[in-house]
Amino acid sequence: MDLKGRHFLTLKDYTPKEIEYLIDLAAELKAKKKQGISHDELKGKNIALIFEKTSTRTRCSFEVAAHDLGMHVTYLDPSASQIGKKESIADTARVLGRMYDGIEYRGYGQEIVEELAKYAGVPVWNGLTNEFHPTQMIADMLTLKEHFGRLEGLKFVYMGDARYNMGNSLMIACAKLGIHFVACTCKKYFPNEALVAYCREVATQTGATITLEEDVKTATKDADVIYTDVWVSMGEPDEIWAERLEDLMPYQVNEKAFEAAKPEAIFMHCLPAFHDLNTKIGREVYEKFGYSELEVTNEVFEGPRSVVFDEAENRMHSIKAIMYATLK
Ligand code: CP
Ligand code: NVA
Repeated sequence: MDLKGRHFLTLKDYTPKEIEYLIDLAAELKAKKKQGISHDELKGKNIALIFEKTSTRTRCSFEVAAHDLGMHVTYLDPSASQIGKKESIADTARVLGRMYDGIEYRGYGQEIVEELAKYAGVPVWNGLTNEFHPTQMIADMLTLKEHFGRLEGLKFVYMGDARYNMGNSLMIACAKLGIHFVACTCKKYFPNEALVAYCREVATQTGATITLEEDVKTATKDADVIYTDVWVSMGEPDEIWAERLEDLMPYQVNEKAFEAAKPEAIFMHCLPAFHDLNTKIGREVYEKFGYSELEVTNEVFEGPRSVVFDEAENRMHSIKAIMYATLK
């Protein structure tokens, strides 16, 4: 499998075989790290990380993975560069492409990361846009494979805001890997029709199915996985909270949501999550609306079904695999 020089912008650009290769490579690099086997095979290379939105996992994963591979890293936050304000994306791409071997971008519209990729001349990795979060997919699929020993044929239910980066990306990943995907939410939050049509087309080749379902009991019947994400994403206005809470509270992942699922079903979340009052935003929402747990209850989050910290760890191993495959 040769992925050298490829961008990593959305899983739409990758075949099922290529995605499986990245998942397996991530597992291999994880094993090496656990065994203390050095893998600094990209010594002498340099990468730039551009973050126009905040991050804990993605930034730390890129930095630790780069260091493990022997690379040097420059981190650019929105206030510390000229990007967008004094310099266009195309010009920035051509400047950074002359100095770095690879560029990570986290920000707003997918068209920005596409533009960066068009002009950079080096691999560009999407660290999250409004539309997609592809590096998270490799970590989540690795986590699933570690847990169940397989991917094909699993039933995967995504509850909540299914028309944003996480819902979109998970639907694509499931379609490509033969997993039965169900978006469980009210109509307003169903993924867009064109993407659903694309995924259904892909699914005809892989044995996956794509279902949109408003009823929680029907959606979660015999599920292997229930996944959720925040109801208000980075970059969305605070004013939207009232509407989101009203629309999406019926889709909170709580113990009841697991009643129809398989007894051994697991809970997943890309994180960060609002499951208690130990965050500033969590407390603000509580003071304004009276809800102390949002997209997931603390009981589920902290309970035995939850694999959220395995997912978080796997971000690092999978980002390492993506960089390694596209740079080595
Ligand atoms: N899941 C995820 O991308 O987390 P961060 O926003 O902390 O990077
Ligand atoms: N949907 C979330 C994902 C965070 C990893 C956001 O965009 O904020």
